[in-house]
Amino acid sequence: MGIIFSESDRVFTLHTKDTTYQMKVDKFGFLLHLYYGRKTKGCMDYLLHYADRGFSGNPYDVEKNRTYSMDVLPQELPCQGTGDYRNLAVVIKNADGSYESDFRYKGYKILNGKYSIPGLPAVYAGEDEAETLEIYMEDAVSKVQVTLLYGVLSELNIITRSAIIKNAGTDRIYLKKAQAACLDFVGGDYDFISFYGRHAMERNIQRTAVLHGTQSIGSRRGTSSHQYNPMMILAGRETTEDAGSCYALSFVYSGSFKGEVEKDQFNQTRVLLGLSDELFSYPLETGEAFFVPEVVMTYSSTGLAKLSQNLHICFRTHLCRGKYRDCVRPVILNSWEASYFNFTGNSIYQLAKQAAELGIDMLVMDDGWFGKRDDDYSGLGDWYVNEEKLGESLGSLIKKINELGVKFGIWFEPEGINEDSDLFRSHPDWVLSVPGRDPVRARYQLVLDFSRKEVVDYLFDRMCEVLDQGNIEYVKWDMNRSLSDCYSRVADEQGRVQHDYMLGLYDFLERLVQKYPDILLEGCSGGGGRFDAGMLYYTPQIWCSDNSDAMDRLFIQYGTSFGYPMSSLAAHVSAVPNHQTGRITPFHTRGTVAMAGSFGYELDPSKLSEEEKQEIREQISEYKKYASLAQNGLYYRLSDPFTHEISAWEFISSDASEVLVSAVMLEVHGNMTVNYVRLKGLVSGAMYRDEQSGKLYASDALMETGILLPVEMGEYHAYQMYFTKKEE
Ligand code: GLA
Repeated sequence: MGIIFSESDRVFTLHTKDTTYQMKVDKFGFLLHLYYGRKTKGCMDYLLHYADRGFSGNPYDVEKNRTYSMDVLPQELPCQGTGDYRNLAVVIKNADGSYESDFRYKGYKILNGKYSIPGLPAVYAGEDEAETLEIYMEDAVSKVQVTLLYGVLSELNIITRSAIIKNAGTDRIYLKKAQAACLDFVGGDYDFISFYGRHAMERNIQRTAVLHGTQSIGSRRGTSSHQYNPMMILAGRETTEDAGSCYALSFVYSGSFKGEVEKDQFNQTRVLLGLSDELFSYPLETGEAFFVPEVVMTYSSTGLAKLSQNLHICFRTHLCRGKYRDCVRPVILNSWEASYFNFTGNSIYQLAKQAAELGIDMLVMDDGWFGKRDDDYSGLGDWYVNEEKLGESLGSLIKKINELGVKFGIWFEPEGINEDSDLFRSHPDWVLSVPGRDPVRARYQLVLDFSRKEVVDYLFDRMCEVLDQGNIEYVKWDMNRSLSDCYSRVADEQGRVQHDYMLGLYDFLERLVQKYPDILLEGCSGGGGRFDAGMLYYTPQIWCSDNSDAMDRLFIQYGTSFGYPMSSLAAHVSAVPNHQTGRITPFHTRGTVAMAGSFGYELDPSKLSEEEKQEIREQISEYKKYASLAQNGLYYRLSDPFTHEISAWEFISSDASEVLVSAVMLEVHGNMTVNYVRLKGLVSGAMYRDEQSGKLYASDALMETGILLPVEMGEYHAYQMYFTKKEE
């Protein structure tokens, strides 16, 4: 049993295969956090300490006990109003204008299976794969009720957290802050690992010591953002890829968020993750409930590789959905870097013809096929096929492409709108903007008000009307700006608009997934501006970055790998000089780097030499050979590109019988140093055969010293090595 409640000491213990999470209802009804870490027995309430602390107040009902303070005790639901002056999970503005709450324990329920959250993405599991713990808390004065939700997926070492906040009082209240997860560590010294970036250079890794004060990451952009990813790691100071304790928290949400790490006056560490409290003031009428988006947590006592693998497996098998969840994704040729807005139906058909000749599975027609859209000044919002530009109907173009044996996919950006569009001319009030103020433009576009059902309904119908014109097997869902002017003409309160926008977006995506279960959805937001667990619930892959330069991609993909399965990272081979950096890299290297994710091309094959075309054919057959291993295997980072001369990674099957190692030289120097790549996760004492050379290697030596990379002239060489375990 994963969830145990001990009546005698009112302790809840959540066990997964290798971890334990524990909390206790104390004699005053506060829910105290006791422990999260490696699996253990017993009750950890001995970790709590009580002392008279100056300027740390005491709840009224503890009477003259000056050693009892919420400013010091570890908690599951720290809130404004109990004398805790650290960062808080929940802040509510009550009907009387006060901000105080005091949630005390009322009861619990343990259920089979994993809870789901109405209208929001969440990890799912079968009845026998998970358990749910509901803990009921209530503020006796305001009558606000909080149900804390814990999902325990034992085999996956995953614990999820969410909450339902209900106004059971008699007047409107406002939710001012709602964090789904709070982890309080009473001792220990930690590092905070986060992932920062910018457009075309997402998810760089940053590791800093947790110091006194608060370190916070977040987004107020209405999207999870290129700038900070909604996933964070707390690691022991000595923790490495292969050893040491670490915790990951990942927010299953694609809008504004806030992650906070605070070391308090007594050197205790508090970690919070949830909704951003900026631009947030959510009204709840009597009887209304708010569902706090979920946070996924995992713990590893054996380093960061295992931590990432836990998240990979959970997201791949219990968050992503649909036909493409487990199967190898089609190899894509995307028209964007091949021709940008400058195409016709015939040039798209010619691309598809090239795709057919090269063994590429699918042609994706990117931006520019609708409305008056020959650049990014106009047309966005007018989801009518531009038959004049295509020279034929969409249906006939798709049919011709399918006849070549090539699948067809298409680009949409449903949330965006140009002022120079028929949609804007007929519905200028459908955009987010404040009456009487000029809105902020980005990429010459505004944002449609997805918090309004009529807007979502209209766009959904338009999109279906296009999707029904032919055999469309893939949709790229793009979003090319951050939200601004978060004002909705129909909202009673503007502090709800950003979150209601997300609910509108998720409603649209859910309807799409239900109506077209066989379409492969790829998420995108100027590349990786909305690369988060929330989107993965609808789109099993996401365009990782608008930067397709193989060298930069090594860094972007390295950072992304900490939190997300490699199958979720769309990665394409593009032309050189690269369109984002001007860098020239070998074709083989570009293929090796893109094969780390869901593979494709982003170029015009007619501009390639015959040798390069032949290389594409070979790359595709290599990709297909290893795709299932990469999709279902365990992923290991074998080097840190930020500090090493090489970037290397590995996919290994769950029985460790097959291993694919990829390595790229990042630097070349005179009298070059030698580089060995050390493999991971092999069966100790076994022999492994390099399938290319036929040579046999001892697994322990491969893991201890590694395999030697050749020293070659020239920049950015890449190597792929495929090993199989020799039968005993
Ligand atoms: C974004 C995407 C690109 C491409 C363009 C089209 O930038 O990330 O891949 O689809 O939009 O406008």
